[in-house]
Amino acid sequence: MITEPNPSPVHSRKDLLDIESLSAEEINHLLETAKPFKELFTRSVKKVPALRGKTVLNLFFEPSTRTRASFEIAAKRLSADVTNLAVSQSSVVKGESVLDTVDTMQSMKVDYLVVRHGAAGIPNQIAKHSPASVINAGDGNHAHPTQALLDAFTIKEAMGDFSGRKILIAGDILHSRVARSVSICANKLGMEVGIFGPPTLIPHGHPDYFHTFNSFEHALEWEPEVIYLLRLQLERQSAHFFPSLREYHQVFGMTRERFELVSRKGIYIMHPGPVNRGVELTDEVLTYDRSLINRQVENGIAARMAVLYWLQPGIPSPTIEEKAET
Ligand code: CP
Repeated sequence: MITEPNPSPVHSRKDLLDIESLSAEEINHLLETAKPFKELFTRSVKKVPALRGKTVLNLFFEPSTRTRASFEIAAKRLSADVTNLAVSQSSVVKGESVLDTVDTMQSMKVDYLVVRHGAAGIPNQIAKHSPASVINAGDGNHAHPTQALLDAFTIKEAMGDFSGRKILIAGDILHSRVARSVSICANKLGMEVGIFGPPTLIPHGHPDYFHTFNSFEHALEWEPEVIYLLRLQLERQSAHFFPSLREYHQVFGMTRERFELVSRKGIYIMHPGPVNRGVELTDEVLTYDRSLINRQVENGIAARMAVLYWLQPGIPSPTIEEKAET
């Protein structure tokens, strides 16, 4: 008999907009909640009735494979009803604004809005505007909180704990909402965080707790236990930050030579996907037994089930109360 996790001892929230606003206790609570949900995946019936009668709307203004499908499967495994709004075929292309689109959807009484948008801060605006629970599925270069949670879950599953463990985040830090959310989450959980990438793609004024390195070899001397390779986000780069993709791979990527050293040391490799083969990493990484890339995708469902289960739609937002007063 499959059971749902115990009701939360940690207070629920209406929305999940970033990792900054979660405490380490809340993050650990979500990771613990995800565990029994993952156990469900080995059963012939992979569903629990926890969100029966609730409706989840996926509202993706940017492309996605993993996150959108993962939220859909997570919601269905919790017995919620799910609708995917195909933004490119919606009235958005006729000029309807994001908030008007949300109002329209709200009239249909959805309980959760899962939002991805190219502009930072849009999920926060929607959360103030809507009584539905809003989950940020990635906004500009700001945040991707469920990616950080699924990554933390995967690290804990592989290594057992976080305290004092070292994670090196390598690549395009500047444009990466994943780097922001993963580094903040890792720090909150007690990990040491190193960053490495082209100097032009390292943000100025990064937090003091980051260790920085001037070469991949220098970073490897720090002895990271996990190397988190980032996707090179060419679609967000309006300037030339490095001479060529070939040079990027040679200087900043997981080349075959570096991979030989990394695999000898048994260092775990992670990547949020989608992967640019031959740019961030050589093909061999994808079949490495300590590559966690496929596990990250699998664990995304359990982590997102935990988030949907924890959030409470309908907690009145300040905007709603303000509206009632006027
Ligand atoms: N990791 C991630 O956000 O992938 P998608 O863009 O495919 O959702």
